[in-house]
Amino acid sequence: MKILVTGGAGFIGSNFVHRTLETHPQHNITVLDSFTYAANEANLPAGIEVVRQDICQPLTGSFDLIVHFAAESHNDNSLRDPLRFIKTNIEGTAQLLEYARLNDARFHHISTDEVFGDLALDDPARFTPSTPYNPSSPYSASKAASDHLVRAYVRSFGVQATISNCSNNYGPRQHPEKFIPRQIINLLHDEKPRLYGDGLNVRDWIHVDDHNDAVWTIIEQGEVGETYLIGANGERSNKQVVEGLNVAFDRDPKDFVHVTDRPGHDRRYAIDPSSTEALGWRPQYTFARGLKETIEWYRANPQWWADSREVAEETYLQVEKELG
Ligand code: NAD
Ligand code: TYD
Repeated sequence: MKILVTGGAGFIGSNFVHRTLETHPQHNITVLDSFTYAANEANLPAGIEVVRQDICQPLTGSFDLIVHFAAESHNDNSLRDPLRFIKTNIEGTAQLLEYARLNDARFHHISTDEVFGDLALDDPARFTPSTPYNPSSPYSASKAASDHLVRAYVRSFGVQATISNCSNNYGPRQHPEKFIPRQIINLLHDEKPRLYGDGLNVRDWIHVDDHNDAVWTIIEQGEVGETYLIGANGERSNKQVVEGLNVAFDRDPKDFVHVTDRPGHDRRYAIDPSSTEALGWRPQYTFARGLKETIEWYRANPQWWADSREVAEETYLQVEKELG
């Protein structure tokens, strides 16, 4: 197949490209990316074909399959600049769906569990494909809108599309603005991890390779028009994650600081992964192994994160001032 990977210079998309070269070398990959602040040239394997283009522009060329990762992806940014999220995540997805409609291309849409809103800490429920959408932030609302567009193109035009909603990813090449890399890099500088609010918010962590293997399973085994939820039974509070990181750095587990909370901060996400497991997929990583390897990757690659970390921390300083 000729595969177009949108957002292939960002975190999950670039890991998808690397993983696909290992697990599905028979396919031909092109990356389409507009190289926003979230992209990194060093994410791309040598020799990969790259189209530098915004997904809001019409797509040309001939592709059998589009795997659509490109998005504005950071909640904190969506609170400062929501319209950028509306444009890329909604209009950009519509533009790619138009290509799929007119060219009969298979389409896999990468989405997030955040479209379902949040759960209470003591709620026994987890998200399933039939959980009603209830997004909280401009980021999750724009992703929800993009999911609805995919379903509308399946129903109205017969586009051959599937959707996956995954929980929080971690692993190599994740931008230093995100929770786990931010705290790892703080610790590499002998600085304390920073917890929003009380630190009791729960996220359901999955290693990025497990996510991308699930995406391949859905592309190969999934049913067109269906939605699949991807998660690795990895629920942990942010405080637990930070305590584990401190221990990995031989520090006092409680040596962290609380900082001003994110406005509208979702309390808990939790995925019931049985829709994807029914296709035969299982996660391979334990959180302990994944976190250890991720710490080692950031320790070994300071040149990868030095510049983007500086910019991200300047932005966070500004946000902390604004929030008081
Ligand atoms: P990321 O921010 O690391 O990468 C996004 C990539 O998309 C970047 O390379 C960026 O340059 C590119 N991009 C952004 N706007 C673009 C545009 N208008 N045109 C072309 N390219 C553009 O994001 P990520 O964490 O790798 O997330 C990838 C996808 O996975 C997103 O759709 C996100 O919603 C989804 N997702 C992420 C997570 C997570 O934990 N990170 C969890 C579930 C789902
Ligand atoms: P994040 O990586 O931004 O992902 P998301 O908002 O998509 O879940 O944040 C993960 C969790 O970590 C979220 O509850 C916010 C919290 N957080 C902190 O406590 N401190 C931080 O410095 C950051 C960036 C996030």
